[in-house]
Amino acid sequence: MSPNPANDRLSQLQQLKEESKLGGGARRIEQQHARGKLTARERIDLLVDPGSFEELDSLVTHRSGDFGLDQQRFLGDAVVTGYARIDGRPIYLFSQDFTVIGGSLSEVVSQKICKVMDLAGKNGAPVIGLNDSGGARIQEGVTSLAGYGDIFLKNVMMSGVIPQISLIMGPCAGGAVYSPALTDFIFMTEGIGQMYITGPDVIKAVTGEDVSHEELGGALSHSTRSGVAHFTCPSEADTFQQLRRLLSFLPSNNTEDPPRITPTDDPHRACPELLDIVPEDANRAYDMVEVIHSIVDNDDFMEVQERFAPNMLTGFARVNGRSVGIVAQQPMYLAGVIDIDSSVKAARFVRFCDCFNVPILTLIDVPGFMPGTAQEYGGIIRHGAKLIYAYAEATVPKISVITRKAYGGAYDVMSSKHLRGDANYAWPSAEIAVMGADAAVNIVFREQIAKAETPDQTRQTLIGEYQAKFNNPYVAASRGYIDDVIDPRDTRRKIAAALEMLRNKRDTNPPKKHGNIPL
Ligand code: HXC
Repeated sequence: MSPNPANDRLSQLQQLKEESKLGGGARRIEQQHARGKLTARERIDLLVDPGSFEELDSLVTHRSGDFGLDQQRFLGDAVVTGYARIDGRPIYLFSQDFTVIGGSLSEVVSQKICKVMDLAGKNGAPVIGLNDSGGARIQEGVTSLAGYGDIFLKNVMMSGVIPQISLIMGPCAGGAVYSPALTDFIFMTEGIGQMYITGPDVIKAVTGEDVSHEELGGALSHSTRSGVAHFTCPSEADTFQQLRRLLSFLPSNNTEDPPRITPTDDPHRACPELLDIVPEDANRAYDMVEVIHSIVDNDDFMEVQERFAPNMLTGFARVNGRSVGIVAQQPMYLAGVIDIDSSVKAARFVRFCDCFNVPILTLIDVPGFMPGTAQEYGGIIRHGAKLIYAYAEATVPKISVITRKAYGGAYDVMSSKHLRGDANYAWPSAEIAVMGADAAVNIVFREQIAKAETPDQTRQTLIGEYQAKFNNPYVAASRGYIDDVIDPRDTRRKIAAALEMLRNKRDTNPPKKHGNIPL
């Protein structure tokens, strides 16, 4: 029988593809599993719709011969890239392969990543990065630094154009953390995901500090202390599930509205549980998450940065099938005061929503900005200004409900009419004033109280008068700063109606290169 050249060519192709699928080889794959981690390809299989992944550049190899790299050439190099579908919607992805030279970033790895980012941008679909990388490939020197530079530039150019989401599923160092930091959301898988600009060894050498990988850059540190991580998940499978959930709230790009789902929860549903949720005693706390759960569809609230600055809540939900981004004070923590971390957390969230046409629902119970030297020296003026800036600049529908306190500058900041709030509601329990009655009376009537025969009684009388005049929503409502004072039981219905009313809202900011948000 004569040889069939077509068959030979096919078997050569098949052999190359098989080789590429093995990444760094069977032993490295075993090591990856022994570390409790899936491989780059196993991750893709778990993440995307079955059979939807189309790989690109599986035959790419690096071009470096320095420091023994010529002995370590693997098909596809240290990243798997391509496009796929999640819940039927297109996405682009790259999945770093730690089995190939520690997932490090070579010139060609950067080129592969940049190629999918360009495709994602041109086609208007999210780009998802599965990060598991020791950073710039040390042996390639400045070429790998250039590679990171190219990715950073694309991260910035795509910012606000397509959602960019990073999953941290291994020890990520150097450039491997700055690219995720430029993206919109970071998920960390607990136990295996770590992020740091320099690892424990370098820290020990430079500062003498002893710190473990996990303590330095694990999911707990970044979700509670630094605020770098938006979501932490106990396993890789859970990370993928949470990512899919997040995507369900988001449009594919900045020219689209978020997908609307057919609602199964009546938009007119009354919320009787909200009638008594605010305690009579203004100094007692209640759980704003309960308020959110009552208002939104099917109790479904996906909290963002749940464990960072918990005095401010941020997250996604739906009302009558429409996505909303929720920003709310949490009276259970620090009485819902605005401090540095909560300002930055909420400002970034508001700006994300504004980029991607997600209406913002703000629930307000705020005693003001946090006083104290720690906050002042830490720059509360600068950081609080971020939140003002973000709300003022946002042109998406902005709906708010004051449930109790809206004091001082914090009243202005939180989606007020003065910052272009579209629908501003208050419950009858709302107190809209420059400050609490106690503090106000002590300042305004200091002399009168000091001179009074019965100072305590005089103070109490004045407090009562101040409360009667200002600690209610009616002065603000009489000026139209509040569109309506509503029965708390009607809150869901009112929000659903406002969202419908604002469905085609168009608003713009003056033309400019870009604003100068106080960073
Ligand atoms: C080349 C690397 C590498 C890198 C890891 N490897 N990182 N090779 N360049 N950046 C290799 C290791 O030598 C090893 O190869 C294999 O990958 C697996 O790594 P291990 O160290 O065995 O794994 P582990 O113990 O899990 O530790 C992972 C790690 C550690 C914490 C990431 O490898 C590490 O500290 N790497 C260096 C991190 C770093 O400093 N990167 C440079 C950042 S500079 P063998 O063959 O021995 O198994 C940077 C600048 C960008 O990124 C600019 C941004 C602004």
